[in-house]
Amino acid sequence: MVRYAPFFFLRTSMIWNELPPAVFLFRYDMAIFKRQACKPFFSEHERYQWCCKYPRAVMNTYLWEDCQLVCLRKDKKPFFFYLRTTATHTPIVNSAQQTKSWKEIPGPSLWDLIKQALPGASGDLNLTDGLKLGQALYDHYGPIVKLDGFLGRPPIILLYDPEQCAQVLRSENWLPIRSGFQSLDYYRRNKRNKGNENQSNPDMTGLLTDHGETWKKFRSTVNPVLLQPKTIKLYTSIIDEVAQDMIVRMKSLRGENNMIQSDFEMEMNLWSLESIALVALGRRLRCFDSHLPPNSPEKRLIQLVHDIFETADKLDFKPSLWRYFPTRAYKKAMKLYEEQENIARFFIDKTIEELNKQGTRKSEEEKSVLEKLLEINKDVAVIMASDVLFAGVDTTSNTITASLYLLANNQDKQDKLRAEILSITDENQKRSYLRACVKESMRIMPVVSGNIREATKEYVIFGYSIPPGIGISFMHQAMSMMEEHYPRPTEFLPERWLVKKGDPLYHGNAHPFVNQPFGFGVRSCIGRRIAELEIYTFLSRLIQNFRVEWFGPPMQTKVASINYITVPHNFIFKDA
Ligand code: HEM
Repeated sequence: MVRYAPFFFLRTSMIWNELPPAVFLFRYDMAIFKRQACKPFFSEHERYQWCCKYPRAVMNTYLWEDCQLVCLRKDKKPFFFYLRTTATHTPIVNSAQQTKSWKEIPGPSLWDLIKQALPGASGDLNLTDGLKLGQALYDHYGPIVKLDGFLGRPPIILLYDPEQCAQVLRSENWLPIRSGFQSLDYYRRNKRNKGNENQSNPDMTGLLTDHGETWKKFRSTVNPVLLQPKTIKLYTSIIDEVAQDMIVRMKSLRGENNMIQSDFEMEMNLWSLESIALVALGRRLRCFDSHLPPNSPEKRLIQLVHDIFETADKLDFKPSLWRYFPTRAYKKAMKLYEEQENIARFFIDKTIEELNKQGTRKSEEEKSVLEKLLEINKDVAVIMASDVLFAGVDTTSNTITASLYLLANNQDKQDKLRAEILSITDENQKRSYLRACVKESMRIMPVVSGNIREATKEYVIFGYSIPPGIGISFMHQAMSMMEEHYPRPTEFLPERWLVKKGDPLYHGNAHPFVNQPFGFGVRSCIGRRIAELEIYTFLSRLIQNFRVEWFGPPMQTKVASINYITVPHNFIFKDA
């Protein structure tokens, strides 16, 4: 037995039949997987059998150099149990004899799907209600479900098991392919890039749609500018300025019943666009101008982002014939993409023009994301700014609305949050309850219900062999609402993110791949830090200024690429 603090390793010899020597890791630490390039050792199917027999006893098993690495939960059964278990199972890695074809994965038949796609379809496999559908498919078929491809939509495998999600996500973590947004991809490659030969790399279309080396190059250029906490911190006070201006606007828009008298969704989007533009372009768009006409570029951009998510959902995630001939929805989508891009470019060009006029030298700290990227590569700067103005609007606004709703329905939590906000005297002070509230709201009402990867190699999951090219979707929202992962899952309990180990609510009891609102690894959300800063800042100001209440039936959401909160927005904003 060799001891390497803080872990205990026991290296066995080859006595376990054909098994390679094993290393038993007694303290589970995610970091070790990140440091070591570990490959899965047991087939996923085997692990599944183990987990059913001995729930959660073995956290993971990996091949590490020539060793089998078994990671044990410190608090579980004694160690000889694992020795025995390990010895009785012969490792099979991708053995064709033991696996079944992916086509045998359970799931609704083509006929079930066609019936559900017909207008007026109802029932729990209703394709138009993505949230209920995700849960219903799990209830019907279990932790792995196949949705056959039809009418141009490729087949997809849905995974509801965090450990299996982890295996795929980790294996795909060098050059991950996130399929989806195929119609946007098509537009950018076939329409936008035509005549764009002057671009430094004509294949480059942006983070949302690029893959492989082109994506990697783009991402490594923008990562330091968009993800460094130091850079993002520079926006703290101006993002707060936007939040405060929005509070003033909301107060002026309140009627006698303390409800916002204009379209609440549009208001939240005006806030998110104003905030994200500040980061992307480095200037205020003046979205809160009371004279902003309905056909202003600002309002049009908001409407376009919304329409794009809806139309892309119809083309990319639902059955559609656009891949065979130009359908009406396809033609609409191409127009929407073009218009969104033109408006984003209008704002970007205006900003570049102003920057050129200013001509003064700015310190690194004063430069916006656009300015920093312009110094590196103009094409990258323009494409990135345009993507930020697309991906950074509805995502943050829907997260704010969901958080407000959950706080409005949990007044005790809202009081606790307000008390924390009012106790803050220094901006560097930790706001742990605020963070916990946002995390909890993203667990219950995330804006993205699941993430997706296209397999670049063969996987054996639950005994089914899944070939490269198949899309695998990780059902984070459905998993996050399962009792086995988070106790009392439907309750809004920010405390679960704060209590210590040993408490049954402790969030660390859940597998880390259950809940991943910003995705995973090198391809995870590039706007995460900006989004968090915006959300924390605005939510603080909202709760500091208003006692938020909700009346009437529960808030409804609908899926249109992302989760949208639908009308009515029955919020009451009383003075706090
Ligand atoms: C609450 C707010 C947000 C949520 C929940 C969210 C969530 C996500 C998720 C789940 C992904 C996929 C990650 C993966 O494949 O592993 C993603 C990707 C992305 N997000 Fe966000 N996002 C948010 C806000 C933003 C903002 C504000 C921006 C703009 C700065 C942004 C820009 C992007 C981009 C460009 C990608 C593609 C990254 C890549 O493929 O390299 N997001 N986001």
